[in-house]
Amino acid sequence: MQSRKATAISCSNIAFIKYWGNRDAARRIPLNDSLSMNLRRATTTTTVEFDEQLTEDEVHIGDAPVREAARARVVAHLDRIRALARSATKARVDSQNTFPSSAGIASSASGFAALTIAATTAAGLKLSERELTMLARQASGSACRSIPTGFVEWVTSIDTTNSYAVSIAPPEHWDLHDVIAIVSTEEKQVGSTEGHSAALTSPFLQERLIALPIRLHRARRAILARDLALLGPAIEEDAIELHFIAMTSRPPIYYWAPAMVRVIQAVQRWRAEGLAVYFTLDAGPNVHLICEGKDAEQVASLSRQVADVQTVIDNAPGGAATTIHN
Ligand code: DP6
Repeated sequence: MQSRKATAISCSNIAFIKYWGNRDAARRIPLNDSLSMNLRRATTTTTVEFDEQLTEDEVHIGDAPVREAARARVVAHLDRIRALARSATKARVDSQNTFPSSAGIASSASGFAALTIAATTAAGLKLSERELTMLARQASGSACRSIPTGFVEWVTSIDTTNSYAVSIAPPEHWDLHDVIAIVSTEEKQVGSTEGHSAALTSPFLQERLIALPIRLHRARRAILARDLALLGPAIEEDAIELHFIAMTSRPPIYYWAPAMVRVIQAVQRWRAEGLAVYFTLDAGPNVHLICEGKDAEQVASLSRQVADVQTVIDNAPGGAATTIHN
């Protein structure tokens, strides 16, 4: 392989129906289908350069030194791409997030989606969008949903190869916002990867898996019909259920924080007062407030008044992961 370089940008995403638990952890084949929206203001830009002069991969993420575990995950993904390109050439990787690294927004989705696009382009591989989602999935499950545009569904598979993500609507389909109320910037004690395997020990996981297809169908229908009153209850149910599974895993995982509960209770009050806003959560205490664009400013300003909300980031739907120059 000659020295080749490419840069790609990808949005992070927020899941409305969550990925929590794998049927095949090594290949990241999830237990259930999930559904998400790309986040326009939470992006990662990554440059990959394959260089015959290098004797090992050089990985830079943000300005801080890269931890060994993070580096190893990037190198493992480069290895997948090198195997496809039948190459042994090492790479220089530089990755920057547009959102503050302390904001508590998962960067593995945008990070591995951008890495997948930049590295496959730099390696001269020509893959379809579906193939790219299947490749990104192996690095971080949620990353596969950051490859296609707008609102995205990730479907699981009963075999171990065919789980992919696909767009169900472009960003301009619905001006839905995710106003993220940051209540903690601390790194979580238990990462998602560990949470996925712990989920298998919850006695309530089967109940969740039985309830999910109908909930996902409802959420998909709500997105296609731009019906927030239909989407809202489905996403709140699903977010609480994820945390319930985490808390009933053995040993239990608690992602909750007092300020998170305050924001959730405030959402119920605001809704009772006529504001159409619903919440969802990730594997952490920050609260994602889902509302239409016309209400986003009000939701942002109300949430700033809740005790211990540190920062608020308003996101509209984002586009597909893409190369920005070669
Ligand atoms: C709670 O994609 O971060 O955000 O596949 O191990 O990298 P790995 O896990 P990850 O899990 C995301 C979990 C979640 C829900 C979701 O995004 O669907």
